[in-house]
Amino acid sequence: MASSTSESGGVSVTTACLVVVVLLLVAACGGNGGSAAAAAVFSGYKFESHGEAEAFEAALLQQACFNVTSLGAAGRGGSRGCVSRLDTARGGAGSGPVPVLRAALRDTLGEAVSAVGAVTGLASLSNHAGEEMAVRDCIELLGYSVDELGWALDAMAEPDSIAEEEYARGTLGSGRSARSRRAEDDLHVWLSAALGNQYTCVESFHGTDGRLLRRVEAAVAQLTQLVSNLLAMHKRLRSITPLHHHASPTTHKNGTDGAVSSSELPPWITDVDDAELARARSGRKAMRVDVVVAQDGSGRYRSVSEAVAQAPNHSKRRYVIYVKRGVYQENVEVKKKKTNIVIVGEGMGETIITGSRSVAGGWTTFRSATFAVSGAGFMARDVTFRNTAGPAAHQAVALRVDSDRSAFFRVGVEGHQDTLYAHSLRQFYRDCRVAGTVDFVFGNGIAVIQRTTLATLPPASPGQVASVTAQGRRDPNQNTGFSIHSCIVEAKHPTYLGRPWKPFSRVVVMESYLGAGVQSRGWLEWAGAGDAGLGTLFYGEYRNYGPGAGVAGRVRWPGYHVIMDAAVASHFTVRRFINGLAWLPSTGVTFTADLVRK
Ligand SMILES: *[C@@H]1O[C@H](CO)[C@@H](O)[C@H](O)[C@H]1NC(C)=O
Ligand SMILES: *[C@@H]1O[C@H](CO)[C@@H](O)[C@H](O)[C@H]1NC(C)=O
Ligand SMILES: *[C@@H]1O[C@H](CO)[C@@H](O)[C@H](O)[C@H]1NC(C)=O
Repeated sequence: MASSTSESGGVSVTTACLVVVVLLLVAACGGNGGSAAAAAVFSGYKFESHGEAEAFEAALLQQACFNVTSLGAAGRGGSRGCVSRLDTARGGAGSGPVPVLRAALRDTLGEAVSAVGAVTGLASLSNHAGEEMAVRDCIELLGYSVDELGWALDAMAEPDSIAEEEYARGTLGSGRSARSRRAEDDLHVWLSAALGNQYTCVESFHGTDGRLLRRVEAAVAQLTQLVSNLLAMHKRLRSITPLHHHASPTTHKNGTDGAVSSSELPPWITDVDDAELARARSGRKAMRVDVVVAQDGSGRYRSVSEAVAQAPNHSKRRYVIYVKRGVYQENVEVKKKKTNIVIVGEGMGETIITGSRSVAGGWTTFRSATFAVSGAGFMARDVTFRNTAGPAAHQAVALRVDSDRSAFFRVGVEGHQDTLYAHSLRQFYRDCRVAGTVDFVFGNGIAVIQRTTLATLPPASPGQVASVTAQGRRDPNQNTGFSIHSCIVEAKHPTYLGRPWKPFSRVVVMESYLGAGVQSRGWLEWAGAGDAGLGTLFYGEYRNYGPGAGVAGRVRWPGYHVIMDAAVASHFTVRRFINGLAWLPSTGVTFTADLVRK
């Protein structure tokens, strides 16, 4: 057992863990985001005095209403109206900080629902195909936010029942249960995702004449502010609750250009002990196939889209679609309600799903994906997703992922610019191959890419520079980022590891082979953005090897770090970064939980 729960005492901890395992296996197949059962979040804090407690609650209320204008449904009465409304909703002063968060979350969910209504109302004003498509993107994206905020609210159960449960398990008051910490992590993941959707919505209007763009921006601005406030509240609450994670690194290590210390990293926590992992693994059953797709008619369906459409809605167990070898020319969308879908092919490069949409061809980046999945708990293995729009077609996504707790094993992702769109939520890639030219792994999900080949293809034109990543973190309180672990950066052409698509872009490359094409500077500024983001991004390299791995000539931006300390690097492992031990075992996908060399 990790030291994290040692203070709860032996016997009750073991029991709690067993309960957690059972719940997780159920939850992993749950119909929603795979939310764990509700738990008492942010419990266990202590204040010196009554006055200090009230001051904390008051500060939290102010934060919930920060920069709330009188626009939008939740903004009635502006910031002051917001404070007094939430004050009433939380049941008055002295009820603790959690009711404030819950009241703010309810308000924000209401605002998200209104935003869907407002944007839907704009649909009739769109006067060309580009705008119509952007409005459709927005409605879908705001729908994600509604779901994610709903999951967050569900995860915060009513306090009384939780207190009773925790009391029954003997965990009340003393240490907080693993469930609580997991629920706090889940909240963080879902709030981070609920912030990003609005930005993508607005981006879908780029290239239109801007008339609807401004109205859509106005329709989502309040929601964006409220979610950003929730993330700030989450951070504040984390600051007062016991963390319980093991040996947090306190040493400051010098990069080429400054120090990186644990205090700069948000506290992703939750360690699960390895006995739990073993139990979960032993309970795993062989995967059974539900339906077969085959082009020759030997299966129930001839196309993947058909099989997905006919799959059960809101499945609580994994539903396996076996796709026989062949090239399937189709664009597939696994929608939100298609949960726990598994696509199993007959091999990378053998079962191929291919399309050719691109921005140059009139699609939005979001909608260009050959294969797009938002249903939670998705898995794919032994299959290739391809976009054949070509090197000159600009953004042309092969695979877009908005599936929480999704896993990809031996999957090929092939395209040029913007090949893999890890748009939002927790994702894991293992033994995959992703190929492209510009920003070919991008988005604002929270993803670990492990033992995967990242291959740069020849540039479209002599001047084009290849960048592996363009990570799009926007808000310092989002827990998103890409961790590239034990990978091969196959750089046969001049290649940079990444460039900051957004100011808080975060990428760590660790224990990976970097090919000869990786340029000595390593990383690239965003074209035309000058110094923007170079101080706020977080790029790190830890113990890479190979001809491109030398760090002597690397960029000297304040946000770039050569990580020397294993404790810092371990923030970006499967165990810590995506809390993988809580959900990956149920996928059956092999993974390395920790650093390879400790
Ligand atoms: C306040 O909100 C407005 C519009 O909603 C936004 O443009 C502005 O950046 C926000 N200000 C801060 C300090 O967040
Ligand atoms: C970091 O560098 C500074 C000066 O460059 C030095 O004083 C300090 O001891 C170094 N810290 C560590 C942990 O190496
Ligand atoms: C899934 O839901 C849609 C409506 O949203 C319905 O048309 C469809 O028949 C359902 N599919 C199954 C397999 O139940």
